[in-house]
Amino acid sequence: MRIVFILFCLLSLNASANELFAKADVAAGKALHEKNCISCHASSFGGNGSGIYMREYAKVKTSKGLVTQVRACNTNIGLKWFEDEELNVAAYLNQAYYKFEK
Ligand code: HEC
Repeated sequence: MRIVFILFCLLSLNASANELFAKADVAAGKALHEKNCISCHASSFGGNGSGIYMREYAKVKTSKGLVTQVRACNTNIGLKWFEDEELNVAAYLNQAYYKFEK
């Protein structure tokens, strides 16, 4: 039983961005992002704010890290998004900017 659990953990550690975002709705994520996330990034980074996702020293390095960061911003600003909404936004950001495969 323990072996099965360990294997499961290893597999999920290796999950690719494709698997992670398999069920995500990118269009819904884009709309949520436009409504809730852009203005603040734009006021600190200028333009449409997308510069924050393409910084050389980007904080986010993997698709999982991206989901974690989206969750952190969501919690910080008190949006109370559900997990699937966080995934939709992360999937949109990955498709538009980060392009992580892992
Ligand atoms: C109140 C202002 C504000 C709002 C609203 C906001 N953010 Fe952010 N966000 C920031 C700041 C400031 C940083 C940079 C943090 C740092 O450098 O440590 C950041 C960083 C990020 C990053 C990491 C960028 C990198 O380095 O790769 C992501 C992803 C992100 N935000 C997503 C979101 C999402 C999704 C939303 C909407 C739910 C959102 N943010 C709303 C201020 C905001």
